[in-house]
Amino acid sequence: TSTGSMIVVSNRLPFVLKRNEEGKLERTASAGGLVTAVAPVVINTNGLWVGWPGIHLEDPNEPIPESRPDDITPTAGLKSEKVVTVQVDPVKFDDYYNGCCNATFWPLFHSMPDRAIFRGDKYKAYTEVNKEFADRTFEALKRLVKSGEAENEPPLIWIHDYHLMLAANWIRQTAEEEEVPCKLGFFLHIPFPPWDIFRLFPWADEILQGMLGCDMVGFHITDYCLNFVDCCQRSLGCRVDRKNLLVEHGGRTVRVRPLPIGIPFDRFVELAHTAPKLLSTNQKIILGVDRLDYTKGLVNRLKSFETLLEKHPEHKEKVSLLQIAVPSRTDVKEYQELKEEIDQLVGRINGRFTTPNWSPIRYIFGCVSQDELAAFYREAYVGLVTPLRDGMNLVAKEFVACQINTPPGVLIVSPFAGAGETMHEALICNPYEIDSAAEVIHRALTMPEDERILRMNYLRRREKLNDVNYWTKSFLSAMGSLSAQEDHDE
Ligand code: UDP
Ligand code: G6P
Repeated sequence: TSTGSMIVVSNRLPFVLKRNEEGKLERTASAGGLVTAVAPVVINTNGLWVGWPGIHLEDPNEPIPESRPDDITPTAGLKSEKVVTVQVDPVKFDDYYNGCCNATFWPLFHSMPDRAIFRGDKYKAYTEVNKEFADRTFEALKRLVKSGEAENEPPLIWIHDYHLMLAANWIRQTAEEEEVPCKLGFFLHIPFPPWDIFRLFPWADEILQGMLGCDMVGFHITDYCLNFVDCCQRSLGCRVDRKNLLVEHGGRTVRVRPLPIGIPFDRFVELAHTAPKLLSTNQKIILGVDRLDYTKGLVNRLKSFETLLEKHPEHKEKVSLLQIAVPSRTDVKEYQELKEEIDQLVGRINGRFTTPNWSPIRYIFGCVSQDELAAFYREAYVGLVTPLRDGMNLVAKEFVACQINTPPGVLIVSPFAGAGETMHEALICNPYEIDSAAEVIHRALTMPEDERILRMNYLRRREKLNDVNYWTKSFLSAMGSLSAQEDHDE
């Protein structure tokens, strides 16, 4: 393609480095939607990945190990020479990551402002760490241009997510000063909130200016794009074009684009075909897979399941909820408290309904491997994806990809996830309405076969077409980085 070279920048790399007993560094897989989607982009474009390795290295030049031969995670194809690690003082990093990203931007952007804290010292660390990422990225850019690998196209720098909303401006400034050519794009993996929420952040203008340092800013869905355009107009007084999603800023026109993220569909289908059978049960499995996060609606989900057993006792001993909760941000108090609450709730519901031959909830607090995940997705009768708020939600997409058996199961999604906007044939369930959510689960459990087949066919067809390769192409096209022919093929 005519893409030149790609440099991806995100807080998280697709692996976390850990020291083994001998003190040697080892890669372990990172969890989360960003990594699932971005790893194939970097590997397919043979790009560079700038990010945080999850550990503080005393010697920043200590070599990064290659992935193990048995590694089937998205990290596997990423060679160490393609990784640029960002090292920050651990205390500053904690203020940036836990103090600002996790404690401020995450709740605020998910429209949960009561959970957000606003602290100048944490935001200061955020700006400093963004500068650090910008510096490392610029150095990588210079090396790339010098090496001649960038050919004739200016390299593309693609910055990801709420951790790095200020980085683009610095990269642009330095690149202009030093006359190093590049194009800058940004993608936000979480929702962008409406203006009346966004403006609660005391330094909101700086964030907008930082994002507008890019040539193009992408979001999952049009609603988030419109929120962003609205904020630029109302907070910064920018001239905007809502119809064409353009924002004028600093003498440039920034494009804003909905780029709904996709999954490596074919890879999940393949995993679903090869993964060994895991669940030996005659019960229908209702499956939930989430990072343990308050945005995912786990408490409401458990209560809805309890209501289902109360109101429709015919499902007792016939149905089980398998909930996988992946540990996440365990240094943050809210996440620790949520874990306690869920532990208790699971215990209470199981205590109430368990019989000698059956437990209603099977709860796994931990990571699962990719083949295990594919097997669960394949064998589940209902995929239950009911976040209170979610940028997109890739689990919904992975579930339908792995539903290869006939007749298939049923997907339930929340209207407050980006996936709820695009996966039209799923059953829609408002997680805040506990009773009616229980009825939606009942409906899924009793849906006739032909309706299940019809819905799942449509869902799978759409996700196969709009997979992660399509997402990459849409990004390149939005950056103006595809040749006319490639753009046409799309
Ligand atoms: N996932 C994972 N490890 C696990 C279970 C799930 O990495 O043990 C992956 C899952 O396959 C999916 C991602 O985590 O790709 C979750 O993405 P989603 O968009 O649903 O939510 P996020 O965690 O990004 O908020
Ligand atoms: C979401 C965010 C990602 C993040 C992931 C896991 O998907 O959009 O940027 O990497 O959650 O969270 P963590 O804090 O562990 O990186």
